[in-house]
Amino acid sequence: MSQFSLDALQARLAAVATLDAADLEREEVAVLGRKQGELTRLLRDLASRPLDEKRTVGAALNALKQQFDAAFAARRAVLEAERPDAGGGVDLTMPARRDWTGTQHPVSVVIADVVAIFRELGFAVALGPDIENEERNFTALNFPPDHPALDMHDTLYLEQRGAPGDGERLLLRTHTSPVQIRVMRAGPPPHRVVIPGFSYRKDPFDASHAPAFTQIEGLAVDEGITFADLKATLTHFARRFLGGDVAVRFRPSYFPFTEPSAEMDVSCVLCGGSGCSACKGTGWMEILGCGMVHEQVLRNCGIDPEHYTGFAFGMGPHRMAMVRYGIPDLRLLFGGDMRFLAQFGRFAG
Ligand code: PHE
Repeated sequence: MSQFSLDALQARLAAVATLDAADLEREEVAVLGRKQGELTRLLRDLASRPLDEKRTVGAALNALKQQFDAAFAARRAVLEAERPDAGGGVDLTMPARRDWTGTQHPVSVVIADVVAIFRELGFAVALGPDIENEERNFTALNFPPDHPALDMHDTLYLEQRGAPGDGERLLLRTHTSPVQIRVMRAGPPPHRVVIPGFSYRKDPFDASHAPAFTQIEGLAVDEGITFADLKATLTHFARRFLGGDVAVRFRPSYFPFTEPSAEMDVSCVLCGGSGCSACKGTGWMEILGCGMVHEQVLRNCGIDPEHYTGFAFGMGPHRMAMVRYGIPDLRLLFGGDMRFLAQFGRFAG
């Protein structure tokens, strides 16, 4: 046993920590392999040596074998942890991720702005469930039983399997107006609420329709509320939301739950009223439906119409986001493309 082979092995031991996976495997066989391993061979040769050499050299060789065992195991563990697909591994070659901050969805920005304006006027926020019954969605709102909105072709009814049922069909609410009923039945007037939420109709999904879309409902019920309050409140709202110079007009309309009813138009935000493709040359854009709460609706909620009056309105934040930001296709607001959304959204927080 020469000092030379021991020194050579010491040097190889020190180099184990630098080997890659393939070299590590090869070196393990070359040093510790049962047949050809260098260290194995030296240990085997020891059998034919004198006793004192067996003791001294044997102890040294055994110590070296243990060190090799430990060095191979340690190196294997390091290589394993560095593998890019290993759980704790870090792939230092991967490009760094850019620091990324989300933004509020443009429709959420519109809802937040609308709600903030009505909060200033003393309105609270009320919410209701997306699944409603026919009574609150239609009947209590004074829809006649043959109104086309009740048709299977317009409304998404829910199949009720095995439910005991009171004969009431359940549906995805077609507007946020059933929450008016919930609010008025929950306690006596005065009521001043805005109600943001999703509504659902059996509509196609195209550039201007979606089967699910947002609405913001408004309701004010108190003593002495008149159409003048409705006009003043909604005109103030339009000017706060779109800018002080916006013109508004009210056109007679029809809803079963308001009487009289109106649509409110604003002067086109793109052309200022001179007429363009966005307003189809009219200079006006319709932004909401409104009216005085129908006497029958008040009675359906246990409110005496001789004593109380009110107004209600409903607007569509998806549509308002399109108007405000000049977005040509409604579907863009349902996609998750941050390259598009981040242009209009506001940074959260
Ligand atoms: N619910 C009506 C709609 O969805 C909007 C509306 C609400 C109209 C309140 C008048 C009063 O079209």
